[in-house]
This record gives sequence, structure tokens and C-alpha cells, in this order.
Amino acid sequence: MKINGTPFRTIWPTADNSAVEIIDQTKLPHVFATLRLENMRDAERAIRDMQVRGAPLIGVTAAYGVALSMRHHASDAALKATCNKLLLARPTAVNLRWGIERMRALLAPLPEGERAAAAWQEAARIADQDVAINASIGRHGGELIRAIYEKKKSTVNILTHCNAGWLATVDWGTALAPVYNAFDAGIPLHVWVDETRPRNQGASLTAWELGQHGVPHTVIADNTGGHLMQHGMVDMVIVGTDRVTSRGDVCNKIGTYLKALAAHDNGVPFYVALPTPTIDWVLQDGVKEIPIEQRAAEEVTHISGLCDDGQVRTVQLTPNNSRAANYGFDVTPARLVTALITERGVVAANAEAMRVLKEQEAA
Ligand code: MRU
Repeated sequence: MKINGTPFRTIWPTADNSAVEIIDQTKLPHVFATLRLENMRDAERAIRDMQVRGAPLIGVTAAYGVALSMRHHASDAALKATCNKLLLARPTAVNLRWGIERMRALLAPLPEGERAAAAWQEAARIADQDVAINASIGRHGGELIRAIYEKKKSTVNILTHCNAGWLATVDWGTALAPVYNAFDAGIPLHVWVDETRPRNQGASLTAWELGQHGVPHTVIADNTGGHLMQHGMVDMVIVGTDRVTSRGDVCNKIGTYLKALAAHDNGVPFYVALPTPTIDWVLQDGVKEIPIEQRAAEEVTHISGLCDDGQVRTVQLTPNNSRAANYGFDVTPARLVTALITERGVVAANAEAMRVLKEQEAA
């Protein structure tokens, strides 16, 4: 995607292939800064501290983390230690495990001397595939937006939660890829952007990238969506996901489940966009089985923003002695999901349709 007219990905190898660089998403939207990752620890920290975030980008960064590590030590023990360390960076997005296991499966059978080069190529391949997958999600999802436009013949109002745009992937995004696809095709649309407390991925990242692309949008407090749906101001909801079970239960940023309930109560279609690597074929019952990240209370008790003097500062919202809990994700049961938008097409969120998708993948 373009930033001030210049094409960018969220992660890229340096010109001399000695490291990778990322956009530091903790500094957006007020500061555009890049960071150089030179070794596995840099990659692990970038994931854990959310300088990169979003399930697909977490998977790609982990793959590059393995590749950077193989440059320093490529023994079996080093490969094992690297994978185990990176797997602990964050618990919920299954793409982390998917990326690491794909690298491990390729590298383990190789002689040590061949691992560094093979790892670098594979990480680049995973990044390129992510871009192609998201473009395909954009095409399939764009058709859903077009169908609503064809029916109502006026601006299509889309609500989204968190950031599942190009900043959460290598490029194009998942939930926002259909928005970019339809917008670029000239379909009039407008996006309601949930601020997405406590880290405000909507207010800071989604609003920023939609603005860069010229897409009309309005930032709303997280509790606003239900009211807008009751008043017919939302035609569809599109969100991303960090893990989908084999029966279609969807795990995404905290607050997504409440949006799904409101959408269900108001007859608003609720779509989930995902690349198939985000499917956890081992799990079924998402509420019981998906590990939900809990992060520091300070993310709830404090908030950062731009001050009049141009400095970004953090302030405390809560009284000193008040406890805070910070659950990062929740699970929307398959029964509340209208359909899944994948690179292979639009799929019903149920075990049978998922089984067919799995067979297509294996074919
Ligand atoms: O905590 P984050 O910012 O990594 O959470 C991101 C989300 O919940 C996204 O919606 C999800 O990862 C899909 S990204 C294409």
C-alpha cells in the first residue's frame, strides 16, 4: 500500500539482505518510524511488544526471525531453541505457530550449511504468498460489497473492529482488503472504525491507513456500533481473526463478540476475513479451547496521544488504587458468523463447509 504516495510493505528485507525492516506500529499514527531487526531476539521483541501485530504479520515476522537466527547458528539445537522462543511471543494468533512450523518442516531435514539461505528464501516466499492471499480475499469480499451496493444504490456503510488492514499483514490486509478492492472499483462506501480499546488499533492504525488511501471513514467509540445498527446505519460488518476453529468459531480482538451479537440482533451480515493459515484445524470449541492473551493492566489504565507541543505522551486514566484486567481477544461462535471470506472464496462458518475447504487445500 502507499504512504504519501510511496509503496510500502509492513516488513521487508534490507537491500543487502543482512536484516529485515519493519514499520514500528507503536509509533503510529503520529510518527512514521521504521525499525531494523537483526536477529531472532529483535523479531521476538517486535512481536511481543507489538511493534508488529496482526495475525498474518506475526506469522511472517516469526518466519524472518527463524531466518535471521539461522544466519548466526544453524544447528539442530539452535533451530529448536529459536522456534521454542518465538512460539512464546504471543499466545492467541495461530499464524505464529503456522509460520514457525512451516520453517521448521523445511529446515530440519536440511544440512546445517544450507539452512540460512533456505530459511531466507522461505520467509520471503511466505511474505509474497501473504500479499497474494490478501489480494484474493479482497476480490472475493469486494463482490459482497458490490452486491449490497447493487441492491441499495447508495453508499455502503461497513463497520470494522481493530485493525485487519495492510498494517496487520504484509500488504492489502484481510478485512480491509475488500474495502480497498471495492473502493478502487469506484463503489461508494464509508467505514465505521471502532476505536478498539485498550490499544486503539482502530483509532490509530485503521483510521490512518484508510486515510492514506482516501477511504471515507468515521472513528467511533467501541460501544457505538449497536446503536448505529439499530438505526440502519450499518450495512455489513467485516472483521479479521487471529484463529478460527475447524467448526467456524472465530477468535478476534476483544469486543468482536459484542459486535456479532448486535449484528445478529439487527439482521446485519457479519463477515470474517481470513487467510487459511489462520485456521486451527485441531480445535473445535473456540470458547473452551483458544488461548486468550492477557496483557499488562497499564494498557487499560493509561493511554497515549499527541499533545499540543507535538510530543506523544502517556497519561493515566484510572484512580491510583483501581485494579484493571486486560483480555486481548474473545470468541464469536460460528452461529453468529454470516460467512468467512478466504482466499479460496466465501465459505459458510460450519464444520462441513470447513471440511470441504480443507480438502480443497490438500488437493
Ligand atoms: O493485538 P493485535 O493488534 O495483534 O490484534 C489484531 C487483531 O485482532 C486482528 O483483527 C487480527 O489479528 C487479524 S489481522 C489481519
